[in-house]
Amino acid sequence: MTNRLEGKSIIVTGAAGELGRATAVRLAAEGANLTLVGSGRTPLDEAQAAAEAEGAKVIAVEADVATSEGVRRYLDRAKEAFGRVDVLFNNAGIQAAIGPIAEFPEEDWDRVMAVNVRSVFLGIKHAGPIMAEQGAGVIVNMASVAGVMGVPLIASYSASKHAIIGLTKAAAGELAAAGVRVNAVAPGVIESPMMRTIEEGAAPGAPDAAKQAYTALTAMGRYGTPEEVAAAVAFLASDDSSYMTGAYLRMDGGMSAGSA
Ligand SMILES: NC(=O)c1ccc[n+]([C@@H]2O[C@H](COP(=O)([O-])OP(=O)(O)OC[C@H]3O[C@@H](n4cnc5c(N)ncnc54)[C@H](O)[C@@H]3O)[C@@H](O)[C@H]2O)c1
Repeated sequence: MTNRLEGKSIIVTGAAGELGRATAVRLAAEGANLTLVGSGRTPLDEAQAAAEAEGAKVIAVEADVATSEGVRRYLDRAKEAFGRVDVLFNNAGIQAAIGPIAEFPEEDWDRVMAVNVRSVFLGIKHAGPIMAEQGAGVIVNMASVAGVMGVPLIASYSASKHAIIGLTKAAAGELAAAGVRVNAVAPGVIESPMMRTIEEGAAPGAPDAAKQAYTALTAMGRYGTPEEVAAAVAFLASDDSSYMTGAYLRMDGGMSAGSA
C-alpha cells in the first residue's frame, strides 16, 4: 500500500455503509486522517474501529447530509480536528422504492433526490469555498452506472445519479481555477446489501435470478467488490489523478461499455 494520502484530512459521508466503510479503510491504509459521517441510524463504530486499525486518526460525526446544517457540522468538525479539509467523498446515498414510474410514490422520489442529489449539491456548496481558500482540494462524488445508463424500475435513483454526474461537471468548471478538482465514480453492480435489496425488489422471491441477470449484463461476468470501488476513490483523492477534473470513472465490469 502506498502512503500517497499521508496526513490528508478526508471526509467520507455514508461511512457506516458497505462502500463507505471499505473506502474509509483504504484511505486510512494510505495515510489519511478521517472524518466519518453517518446518519445516526447506522452506527459508525465499526467503520471507525476498522479505519483506526490502519493507523488513522478518526472522528465520527452524526449529520444529515441532506441539510445545510448537517453539512456545515461535518465540515466544522473536520476543520477543528485536522485543521483543513483536503478531500470530501460525497458517498451517502439511498435507493428507495422499486417499480415503474407510473406507480412510483412521489414522496420516495423527493427523498431520493434530497439524499442523493441535494447532499452532493450542499457538500460542494459548503466545501468548495473552504478548499478554494486553501488553494487546493478534491471532491469525489458517488454516482453509479445508473447515472450513465437509464435503469428501468429504479428511475428516481437513476435520475439522481445522472444529476450527480451533471453537478460534478458543472462544479469542476467553477472550481478548477481555485485549485479544486471535482470528479465522480460510477460503480456498477457491487456485492452489497444495497444490491441485495435491488435484486429482491426486481424479482420478489427470486433474488438469485435477478443477480444472475445483472451479472450477465457485465462483460466481466461478475459483480465488483467494495474494495475495488475504494481503490478508485483513493486514486481520485490522490495526486495520481492530478490532471483529472469533471470526469466520471466508470467501474462496472464493462456493463456500460456499449453506451456513449
Ligand atoms: N452498492 C452498490 O452496488 C452501489 C453501486 C453504485 C453506486 N452505489 C452508491 O454508493 C453509495 C454507498 O452505497 P452502499 O452500497 O454502501 O449503501 P449503504 O446503504 O450500505 O450505505 C449508505 C450509507 O448512507 C447513509 N445515509 C443515508 N442517508 C443519509 C443521510 N441523509 N445523511 C447521512 N447519511 C445517510 C446510510 O446510513 C448508510 O450508512 C450510495 O450513494 C450508492 O448509491 C452503490
